Amino acid sequence: MKNIEVSIKDVLGFVSREQIDALRDEAIGGLTKLTDGSGLGNDFLGWVKLPGEISNELLDDINSTAKSLSENCDVVVAIGIGGSYLGAKAVIEAMSNPFDQPKVLFAGQNIGEDYLYNLMDYLKGKKFGIIVISKSGTTTEPAIAFRLLREQLESQLGREEASKRIVAVTDAARGALRTLADTEGYKTYVIPDNVGGRFSVLTPVGLLPIAVAGIDIKALVAGAREMMEKTLDGTSTDALTYAMTRNALYRSGKKTEILVDFYPALHFFAEWWKQLYGESEGKDNKGIYPSSVDFTTDLHSMGQWIQEGERTIFETVISVKTSKHELRIPSDESNLDGLNYIAGKRVDEVNKMAELGTRLAHVDGGVPNILIEIPEVSPAVLGQLIYFFEAACGISGYVLGVNPFNQPGVEAYKKNMFALLDKPGYEKESAAIRAKL
Ligand code: PA5
Repeated sequence: MKNIEVSIKDVLGFVSREQIDALRDEAIGGLTKLTDGSGLGNDFLGWVKLPGEISNELLDDINSTAKSLSENCDVVVAIGIGGSYLGAKAVIEAMSNPFDQPKVLFAGQNIGEDYLYNLMDYLKGKKFGIIVISKSGTTTEPAIAFRLLREQLESQLGREEASKRIVAVTDAARGALRTLADTEGYKTYVIPDNVGGRFSVLTPVGLLPIAVAGIDIKALVAGAREMMEKTLDGTSTDALTYAMTRNALYRSGKKTEILVDFYPALHFFAEWWKQLYGESEGKDNKGIYPSSVDFTTDLHSMGQWIQEGERTIFETVISVKTSKHELRIPSDESNLDGLNYIAGKRVDEVNKMAELGTRLAHVDGGVPNILIEIPEVSPAVLGQLIYFFEAACGISGYVLGVNPFNQPGVEAYKKNMFALLDKPGYEKESAAIRAKL
């Protein structure tokens, strides 16, 4: 299998090899904590060996459910938020032609009334199915979307037929969604107890919608498994290197990491990455702020800030070596746009020079640069990249000194929202918050 490669050459003018190597013991200690469970958050380490443990039977079962949904529906709506949304969205977007009619649409990742109205309007008269994904089964955003879409589906088909087009991905035994699924007889898949939302893309949470989109989930898992084996047996030290380097940069005052792509379809991969690192590391008043840009698009907007703004940032560039298709720039007799000097070149060749030119300019402008080269955007390579980032995230969180597997901070907004909405059980909070307004 073709491999991803990590280069830290362009950070060495900012932090020294010694500063990075000084974190090696902590990073190796972090990796050990992931494998022996001796660190904080050790009840959420199910993802560490997951790619080697997923059975072929489960993958076949997911593929057959996906096939039946796909054949019986014009479109399937995947309902979920956060870790129950971003992994599937990332892989589907990375592998899809954005100009094709999508097979999988998403809902429950916001509370946008117009978003939901427009989606329901689009679904009128269409054959649609629902994959509802929620570990807790009580998250407000997907619960609202599911209530609306289930009602629409039931009114289109009747309750019994609708239940054949709904698949629930949730906890094995607990929660509102489990109860409803069992009562209504929905096909269900289980989110393992020991896998947190942001690490769940390689469980049915991500795999089912990805399979419905026609993407090879066996190749995705195989890529992740290969990276898992190499990371855990020490053949690959890339996850350690990335974790050490970003912590060395953080300790030297580089507080923001920008994940950069020059490949538009990776936009949502960066969104997945932001959740992974943001929720894992941003706590105890610490943590690198993860942000992202799509170049060259954002060079025409954020490029100014990155080149000349406050020097507290570093970049991690995901560079795709080979694009899937070939397109050459035509020659033009009038040459009014002055482009004949690149006529005959592939578009990707120009993109690569933009990439190299940007990296050099940003390093010259004081922005350290970590380079992650991937051979292509394929399910196997995305699987490798997913596991690489997950492993590096766990290690990095331990080096930072936080529990990388909890997210206590996400409760604060929920508490206020419930109080403001007068949710039963929040009477005291309602009175307290009203007194503040
Ligand atoms: O990473 C997380 O834990 C969160 O992003 C959750 O995945 C998100 O809140 C959705 O939770 P649930 O699957 O319980 O609906």
